[in-house]
Amino acid sequence: MKRIVVLVSGNGSNLQAMMEACKQGRLHATVAAVFSNRADAYGLARARDAGIPAHALDARDFAGREAFDAALADSIDAYAPDLVVLAGYMRILSAGFVRHYAGRMLNIHPSLLPKYPGLHTHRQALANGDADHGASVHFVTEELDGGPVILQAKVPVFDGDSEEDLQARVQVQEHQIYPLVAEWFVSGRLVMRDDAAWLDGERLPAVGHAAE
Ligand code: GRF
Repeated sequence: MKRIVVLVSGNGSNLQAMMEACKQGRLHATVAAVFSNRADAYGLARARDAGIPAHALDARDFAGREAFDAALADSIDAYAPDLVVLAGYMRILSAGFVRHYAGRMLNIHPSLLPKYPGLHTHRQALANGDADHGASVHFVTEELDGGPVILQAKVPVFDGDSEEDLQARVQVQEHQIYPLVAEWFVSGRLVMRDDAAWLDGERLPAVGHAAE
């Protein structure tokens, strides 16, 4: 069975979706452990409820970003993961950490990348009057939210939507696409090569796999 380690900083609804997909056999893997940079992340409680080891590291216990990330990588590697999944992990990653997991670390970002890397994506989509918004699953590279996109899910933006409305609509989609992409990875269908994502031997376009 392939092993996934998940990193969270908050609610952990994407972690939950991943755990449920494993349980239901849609994802042929096991969530081996969950890590957080915040001891109060609800995602840690979700993991413990599911009987999965859950650990927090406190940045104040380390000399700097490199030291924190080195300790985190050591702790993650003790679980020998095939895949590392960032699920709302709100901490900038050091270059060394990213390189260590190159080609085996995924992130989900709440926008249709390359639009709106960084924070407040729902607010920006509303402010710009976008007709569509969504989420993107991508491989993690050293460029923030800039790695090759694997799959996007689009949602409509309706008149009168609040940021919360939009976030909720996007999250429903996130919970579908993230476990699906994880399954592609653990089954060997998905790889990162030449700074691109490849699915079933085909190089994916900049917007990822065209689901329609
Ligand atoms: C998601 O919207 C994800 O796109 C972003 O952070 C949020 C995490 O939500 N990276 P949750 O903690 O999985 O509920």
